[in-house]
Amino acid sequence: MAPSHPIGLLNGPNLGRLGLREPDIYGAETLADIENTFRNEAKNLGIVVDCFQSNHEGELIDKIEKWTDDHFAGVIINPGGFTHTSVALRDAISSSQIPFIEVHLSNVHQREEFRHRSLTAGVCQAVIAGMGPMGYYAALRHFAAKLHQ
Ligand code: DQA
Repeated sequence: MAPSHPIGLLNGPNLGRLGLREPDIYGAETLADIENTFRNEAKNLGIVVDCFQSNHEGELIDKIEKWTDDHFAGVIINPGGFTHTSVALRDAISSSQIPFIEVHLSNVHQREEFRHRSLTAGVCQAVIAGMGPMGYYAALRHFAAKLHQ
């Protein structure tokens, strides 16, 4: 797919509180900081991006449908707590036909047992956990490499 097709960055519930929320786990950077770096990295890579965060499951699903209709080339998603609960989000990802990469700031496998299971990972192309915001940028580079192939 041509580099003109955008890449989406989708963040789920509570991720709008990054920087304030449990900084020992999620770090000091705000979501605005992360999205700014993400946009700069994308610009340097010649990739068009769109960023969206919502605390609401339906809004995340609406955005996936919109980005599907708009022929996005890939989506980087951190579904937050919905990772472990949402069949609806999984269904939206699997029916979208866009490649998704799931990113978690923390290493969910080192944490509580209920975080070890992801309902969404099985319908994503790749999963990154525990690299902090770098996980989002690494996923972007992966998509950029594919787009420029
Ligand atoms: C998270 C991990 C989830 O278990 C948690 O509910 C989050 C953030 C992460 O980025 O590490 O909200 O997705």
